[in-house]
Amino acid sequence: MSNQDITLKVEDLHKSYGSNKVLKGVSFEIRKGEIKIICGPSGTGKSTLLRCLNLLTPPDRGHVWLEGEEITDAGTDIHKVRQKIGFVFQEFNLFKHLTALRNVSIGLEVVKGIKKDEAREIALEQLRKVGLEEHAHKYPGELSGGQKQRVAIARALAMNPVIMFYDEPTSALDPQLIGEVLDVMKKLAKEKITSLVVTHEIGFARSVGDEIMFMTDGRIIERGPPDEVILNPKHEVTRNFFRNITRLYERSEQ
Ligand SMILES: Nc1ncnc2c1ncn2[C@@H]1O[C@H](COP(=O)(O)OP(=O)(O)OP(=O)(O)O)[C@@H](O)[C@H]1O
Ligand SMILES: [Mg+2]
Repeated sequence: MSNQDITLKVEDLHKSYGSNKVLKGVSFEIRKGEIKIICGPSGTGKSTLLRCLNLLTPPDRGHVWLEGEEITDAGTDIHKVRQKIGFVFQEFNLFKHLTALRNVSIGLEVVKGIKKDEAREIALEQLRKVGLEEHAHKYPGELSGGQKQRVAIARALAMNPVIMFYDEPTSALDPQLIGEVLDVMKKLAKEKITSLVVTHEIGFARSVGDEIMFMTDGRIIERGPPDEVILNPKHEVTRNFFRNITRLYERSEQ
């Protein structure tokens, strides 16, 4: 495997907020086309990790390379880096005063300088991909949570990122809306769109994840193929975590 196949490389990343050590040396790589899943208890630094990788939060120590270029270098153009990373948040973060179509096309015009008509075409194509072409004219207030999240995914994809980050994209959704978002994400996974996904959706992780990295207390303590980590975890913390998640799911399906 040559270095060119590595989309994201993270080495010994540290981040503290005051005396609170949140990331305590995180290292991993994502190759082109891979889907990596991050799981772990609340407050263990999963969102902080994604934010550090996107330079939304400056890491204290460690290195990150995106397509071979070190982005933790002092001279990095932060805006260029963010353009290369599609970020989907738990809370959708759509522009409320813009239609679904404009939500997707505006970045293409403003950030990429693409002409209005062409931006519209690209946006429509992306909305088609997430099954929302016929809702293109609607405002976020007229869409369900699942539809809003699909617009957010279309908006991120439209920028043609080299990698997609998802931070618990379904955890703010009512149970009956989770499936439609996961279906879109599964379809994208089949298209081999390189992704880093923080999620506790174990069905999703098992069907499309190449690897699960289990984080606790600022470190990845266990990693491997999803079935192995979920069904046969090595650590007590991992075992308890997945046991509780499975129980929760069983309850919500009743
Ligand atoms: N901007 C901030 N300022 C100060 N502390 C922060 C900040 N962001 C996060 N933290 C702290 O960092 C720790 C990790 O938070 P983080 O949001 O990364 O956890 P998480 O694993 O994403 O949790 P969850 O599963 O609940 O989303 C927490 O103790 C949190 O309070
Ligand atoms: Mg989080």
